[in-house]
Amino acid sequence: MDSKRNGFSSNVGAILAAAGGAVGLGNIWRFPYMLGQNGGGAFLLVYLLFVFMIGVPLMMTEFVIGRGTQSNVVGAYRKLGTTKRWVFLGVFGIIAAFLIYAFYSVVAGWTLNYIVLSLSGQLSGLEKETVAQVFSDFTQSSFWPALSQFFFIAITGIVISFGVEKGIERVSKVLMPVLFFLLVVMCVRSITLPGSEKGLLFLFKPDFSKINANTLLAALGQSFFSLSLGMGAMVTYGSYIRKQDSLLKTSNWISVCDLLVAILAGIVIFPAVFSFGMNPSAGPELVYVVLPNVFNNMPGGVVFASVFFILLGIAALTSTISLLEIIVAFTVEELNWKRSTSSVIVSFGVFLIGVFCTLSFGPLKDFLIFGRTIFELFDLVTASYIMPIGALLMTIFIGWFTPKEVIKEEISHGDSMKGILFDIYYFIIRYIAPAALLVIIISGFLS
Ligand code: PFF
Repeated sequence: MDSKRNGFSSNVGAILAAAGGAVGLGNIWRFPYMLGQNGGGAFLLVYLLFVFMIGVPLMMTEFVIGRGTQSNVVGAYRKLGTTKRWVFLGVFGIIAAFLIYAFYSVVAGWTLNYIVLSLSGQLSGLEKETVAQVFSDFTQSSFWPALSQFFFIAITGIVISFGVEKGIERVSKVLMPVLFFLLVVMCVRSITLPGSEKGLLFLFKPDFSKINANTLLAALGQSFFSLSLGMGAMVTYGSYIRKQDSLLKTSNWISVCDLLVAILAGIVIFPAVFSFGMNPSAGPELVYVVLPNVFNNMPGGVVFASVFFILLGIAALTSTISLLEIIVAFTVEELNWKRSTSSVIVSFGVFLIGVFCTLSFGPLKDFLIFGRTIFELFDLVTASYIMPIGALLMTIFIGWFTPKEVIKEEISHGDSMKGILFDIYYFIIRYIAPAALLVIIISGFLS
């Protein structure tokens, strides 16, 4: 992988690997907590709209950029742009990946501890208050969460140093379907808990009065975060997709898989939240304080809990792999670093910054910037601002500064994206998406 560009060996492999990168903590941890804080069903509705109206066309666009240029994100903009100016868009993506990786690895690290806690039976049979206490004691302890974060970053670094085909594709292909199956089983348990209907209503019944500028920005940010858009992750993956594969089909499949996992996670979490009389807007701890209670009410709960946290860890791993890959592909191809050296250096850099996010649950809990902890700030700024702004600039670049023929030629390889279908796509990228993004970003800023 150092000099020669490898790619995915099949379309299914490409879809599963990119879906593996997209499906992660964003679906199972972040989606429920965002939905819980932003009005339930109304959030889901807006979210769905964003995924299909903006998300899918944007994902196709990132694939076009990546596959067309066969490059990492910075190289892609260098090759496509008529002036050097556009390279900053790639650099923007690298910074975004770095910042996301810094706080994402905190939550990814938590999965390791929860694997140990579940396997050793320490979560089983606890009262719900004690479950919440375990979480806050653990996150405040600093040492263990920081060590787990370090481990997680190290594992990711090792996978990445082996390269794309061997590492990413192999891991994703097997484990994505298993995670899916497990979530379905957990849904059944959750919706058969007493009083679960309230949770389903909360999730699926939109209350339109709850929709405001902040809900829109949160839903937009969540759709970008979950689909890994607006920062070059999909540009990087796109560069590994084969020419004969349909970009429309690939994007649709990834988005549907991603959405299904998020909705399944919602069906697991919210009925349980209401059944146990918990607070849906608890924030980042939601999943970690709700799920152990669900497992405690299942036969074989210890086994389910262990398997679940292992799979959650793996889902997080396929995402941290894609975050690191964005940065490493750039350093290898643009700066001529060795792949293995780059994995080590970048991983250390991320840990150095990321550990402050871990500490913001403990000693730095009261260190607030704009009223938020470092962790919350990284989370908010990347998802709600950097990714949508990155996407906005990308649509302007592709819709207004790249010749239409170049896009059309690349997008119709292996595809029926010709005629009216292409025109609709192009109209969205040139007019609808930038206008919608601009309005939402500005109204979010002002509110
Ligand atoms: N989409 C991932 C998730 O939902 O967990 C998070 C993510 C991965 C965002 C990779 C951005 C990215 F480049």
